[in-house]
Amino acid sequence: MMLNVLFSAAPTSWDNYRDPLHEALAVEGIKAHLNRDFAPEDVDYIVFAPDGPVRDFTAYTRTKAVLGLWAGVESIVDNKTLTQPLARMVDEGLTRGMVEWVTGHALRHHLGMDTQIIGQDGVWRRHLPPLAPDRPVTILGLGALGVACAHALTGLGFPVTGWSRTSKDITGLKCLHGLKGLHDALHHAEILVLLLPLTEDTQNIVNAETLALLPKGAVVINPGRGPLIDDTALLAALDDGHIAHATLDVFRIEPLPVDHPYWAHPRVTVTPHIASTTRPETATRVIASRATSRVSKPDCHCCIR
Ligand SMILES: NC(=O)c1ccc[n+]([C@@H]2O[C@H](COP(=O)([O-])OP(=O)(O)OC[C@H]3O[C@@H](n4cnc5c(N)ncnc54)[C@H](OP(=O)(O)O)[C@@H]3O)[C@@H](O)[C@H]2O)c1
Repeated sequence: MMLNVLFSAAPTSWDNYRDPLHEALAVEGIKAHLNRDFAPEDVDYIVFAPDGPVRDFTAYTRTKAVLGLWAGVESIVDNKTLTQPLARMVDEGLTRGMVEWVTGHALRHHLGMDTQIIGQDGVWRRHLPPLAPDRPVTILGLGALGVACAHALTGLGFPVTGWSRTSKDITGLKCLHGLKGLHDALHHAEILVLLLPLTEDTQNIVNAETLALLPKGAVVINPGRGPLIDDTALLAALDDGHIAHATLDVFRIEPLPVDHPYWAHPRVTVTPHIASTTRPETATRVIASRATSRVSKPDCHCCIR
């Protein structure tokens, strides 16, 4: 049977995904017309990103599932017109990218690499950093990305504490939850990594009060979402030396405006939302396998709703 797969994402994504997605569907043995435009009632699957044209799912009466292209589901999960099953993207390439970015930036600060890279001035300074077991790391958010980063860091010897909404038991990690858990998690965090989604509860979770709980000289690494941080409070904590450095990948406004104080701050590193991204080669395999599961087993468990 020939399936109609609607690709609803930005035009640039179509250029990147069209050929790999055709190939991945063929590998899974799915015969499909893949296009950016179908009559809604003819669509079997929607490959969906929030930057694409579909906003209202009501007319997609035959659609068996909406297959997310982005990891975050914040922008779709509360859409009242979405009655079809929603499969979220958990892409091996995206997870791996995040692990590499977080580990790289954590090691930069742990080893004090800037002193050698930027501060080479002919003076023989032998400053030995502590070893990883003496550098506590806290990760706020123990989802697919937070846990993968936590395992990579514990693999290097860092003692990692993770904090999440619900209680968890994950081998090798100290897992905390709730408000008291947050305070405990921050108390010893020499490196703090933010991997929370943006919700009403997580907005401004890093603020003057929570920053004050971190030990003096802590480093903040944010590849989560910009509004997790109260920017004014972070700048004040950097200026008074309580926070040694902030490495920020995500911002309230993106691209970060050219006159934003983060750009010029000597203890802030700005990266342009590149910590990790869904990769066509790996993500298309996930989409094709989700579609296969739905075709062969309509009650499969790949969908989150
Ligand atoms: N910079 C980039 O390039 C990039 C790329 C991809 C993703 N991201 C960001 O990374 C975030 C994490 O991704 P993910 O796939 O790991 O997300 P996820 O699987 O949805 O996990 C989210 C985690 O956050 C926790 N959480 C949510 N609300 C909370 C609250 N109010 N209090 C405490 N914990 C809370 C959840 O706790 P429970 O498990 O208890 O529910 C879960 O552990 C995404 O939301 C996105 O913002 C950034």
